[in-house]
Amino acid sequence: MSTDVRPRPLTMALSKGRIFEETLPLLEAAGIQVSENPEQSRKLIIETSDPNLRLIIVRASDVPTYVEYGAADLGIAGKDVLIEHAANHPGGLYQPIDLNIAKCRLAVAVKNGFDYAAAVKQGARLRVATKYTEAARAHFAAKGVYVDLIKLYGSMELAPLVGLADAIVDLVSTGNTLKANNLVAVEDIMPISSRLVVNRAALKTRQAELQPILDAFERASRPAVA
Ligand code: ATP
Ligand code: PRP
Repeated sequence: MSTDVRPRPLTMALSKGRIFEETLPLLEAAGIQVSENPEQSRKLIIETSDPNLRLIIVRASDVPTYVEYGAADLGIAGKDVLIEHAANHPGGLYQPIDLNIAKCRLAVAVKNGFDYAAAVKQGARLRVATKYTEAARAHFAAKGVYVDLIKLYGSMELAPLVGLADAIVDLVSTGNTLKANNLVAVEDIMPISSRLVVNRAALKTRQAELQPILDAFERASRPAVA
């Protein structure tokens, strides 16, 4: 029988790629260094210079699940991901800080030459392919536009090119992906950035350990005033 009664270190869920990269400066601002890059090591549990903080590497869309169920105490997820998660888990997560990282926008895009405004005006029923069905549903409902939503898990840009959909709802940053695929953004839905999310029970039971990290992240992510 194990006699180890030490509490588990605080566990932060991150996805690799842009969220991991853009979180490193925030961790540094909290005085925390990371022992390795998951891209190279392929490890899913990563120690930090703080013995009471470890990182776990999960899919971006799985971050809210790990945090809500308490397998992670905190995590970082895009607003896009949080909107989709909240549809089935309302109020499950505490979201104290907009970190102003991984910034992009959610937009409607169509094939160059498709007259989106005319289709909407005529009341045509549009086929819209997207990974972001909840955000898309809310957007078109608010506009009073009838849509058939087609759920995809990636490469949305392909859908209008091969006749799967009239339009897509996807994230846009530089616009290069749309341009490379002969698509054009016709409507912005909302700006997107990533938020710190915290498990509601941990917020109470591990408040003293969490607070310095929350404070440092809050300070480091505050937009610079001109
Ligand atoms: P999953 O692996 O769960 O399918 P994903 O492939 O969308 O997710 P990433 O590409 O790492 O994961 O994106 C993580 C987050 O970064 C997104 O949820 C979004 O908030 C933001 N993001 C996505 N694309 C861009 C972009 N081009 N520029 C800036 N931020 C982006
Ligand atoms: C995201 C998004 C777009 C692209 C937009 O994909 O799904 O395809 O970025 O960025 P841009 O406007 O700067 O071209 P990402 O690069 O994350 O690839 P993935 O979704 O396949 O992971």
